[in-house]
Amino acid sequence: MTESHSGKANIGVVGLAVMGSNLARNLASREGNTVAVYNRSWERTELLISEHPEAGFIASETIDDFVASLAKPRTAIIMVQAGKGTDAVISQLAERFEPGDIIVDGGNALFTDTIRREAEVRAKGINFVGAGISGGEEGALKGPSIMPGGSEEAYKTLGPILASIAAVAEGEPCVTHVGTDGAGHFVKMIHNGIEYADMQLIAEAYDILRQAGGYSPAEIAGIFEEWNKGDLESFLIEITAEVLKQVDAKTGKPFVDVVLDQAGSKGTGVWTVQTALNLGTPVSGIAEAVFARSLSSQATQRAAAAKAELPADATAWSVSDKAAFVEDVRRALYASKLVAYAQGFDAIRAGAKEYNWNINLGAVSKIWRGGCIIRAQFLNRIADAYDQNAELESLILDPYFKDAVAKSVKSWRNVVANASLAGIPVPAFASSLSYFDGLRGERLGAALVQGQRDFFGAHTYKRVDLPGTFHTLWSGDRTEVEQAPSTH
Ligand code: 6PG
Repeated sequence: MTESHSGKANIGVVGLAVMGSNLARNLASREGNTVAVYNRSWERTELLISEHPEAGFIASETIDDFVASLAKPRTAIIMVQAGKGTDAVISQLAERFEPGDIIVDGGNALFTDTIRREAEVRAKGINFVGAGISGGEEGALKGPSIMPGGSEEAYKTLGPILASIAAVAEGEPCVTHVGTDGAGHFVKMIHNGIEYADMQLIAEAYDILRQAGGYSPAEIAGIFEEWNKGDLESFLIEITAEVLKQVDAKTGKPFVDVVLDQAGSKGTGVWTVQTALNLGTPVSGIAEAVFARSLSSQATQRAAAAKAELPADATAWSVSDKAAFVEDVRRALYASKLVAYAQGFDAIRAGAKEYNWNINLGAVSKIWRGGCIIRAQFLNRIADAYDQNAELESLILDPYFKDAVAKSVKSWRNVVANASLAGIPVPAFASSLSYFDGLRGERLGAALVQGQRDFFGAHTYKRVDLPGTFHTLWSGDRTEVEQAPSTH
């Protein structure tokens, strides 16, 4: 551990719960960093410094001492639970920091909060950086994927420090300056939305393999291990196999069978969907994943429905060729996953437009290749797609992915149709396929919706063959009138 020439820390961490402690240890383990640490309760700080003397932390009991222990420009990363606590720590630091200093929020903050905080802090000449950090506890310690927003100026100081602790994928650190103010937290939010969709899709694949294929959890673990050697190779597939292999020590049953089937959430998936609704970007796969968690958690309602023995009129899925069946499910998963990513990247593009961020989608996909929860081989392909065409209308239109969908679409339809007939819920698979069909459809039922809107509300419509805006006199003689162009 080298100390900076001033004997002060070049970086500080506030909030020493698991994520903060691990991030501080990660920082301290990198050549050139001296790390100051501070926590509201001193006991936690004491524990960290006594358990990790090798880190050479400069520990402070008070916020004043902490601030005094930082070299200029002072740089502190806040790792407290997102919400009011973050605001309290920001104001404590902002009161003591000087112009040019840098406050980093490394929590899962809502990007609109980050935009607000950045503006408030910037008014004092202090830099505020909202940085999405993904990878859980282990990532924080060994190398997360980091998505910082904030100013260029702040990134000059912060960038090398973050690069020193980030995961490395194919020689490149998994960090990039995503964009100004809330851009980093926005991209982290979308990352989490994609994470929800990816997890739900994997769960649906598992459910089909189990219910229709009759495979045991241990056998399905083996299938996922195989899948992890191909196009689907990813952290989430890898840990899925681990979870499915786990046997409950108390009962000897598969772990997955003793876990209550009610999925929790901390809200970042909900934010993604709410934001996408506001932006008018269909993130239907992500939304289905969020709603699937909600449905799973409606315990009373589910119990009542199960008791009512609602008619299913389902037809058993007769699986004659098991290998072909498994391959169909794999392809359906791959194609649905592509939709989730395509929708997520569309939401980033829409957010960038709305909030004036210059976000490089290829760079985002590259920093997700390592460290984060959705890390996957697949991200390399996405990076290639945006490298080849930064203006790509949809990831699905990239030649590589177009070809991949072409190879999968039959399987995808088979799986969705058979699951539906068999009464196996596949909300994310089905919605992703419908999205795909909607995207590629030359004419949609939306024309009729426009007609209905014009009928009951004179909401007007456009024609395929003429410029201008029209209304039909539905309650009169049903002739069409052209609307005068708006004067403002
Ligand atoms: C990460 C994760 C992490 C967490 C999310 C989702 O990138 O490290 O996304 O942020 O898993 O908060 O958690 P929930 O499933 O509880 O919403």
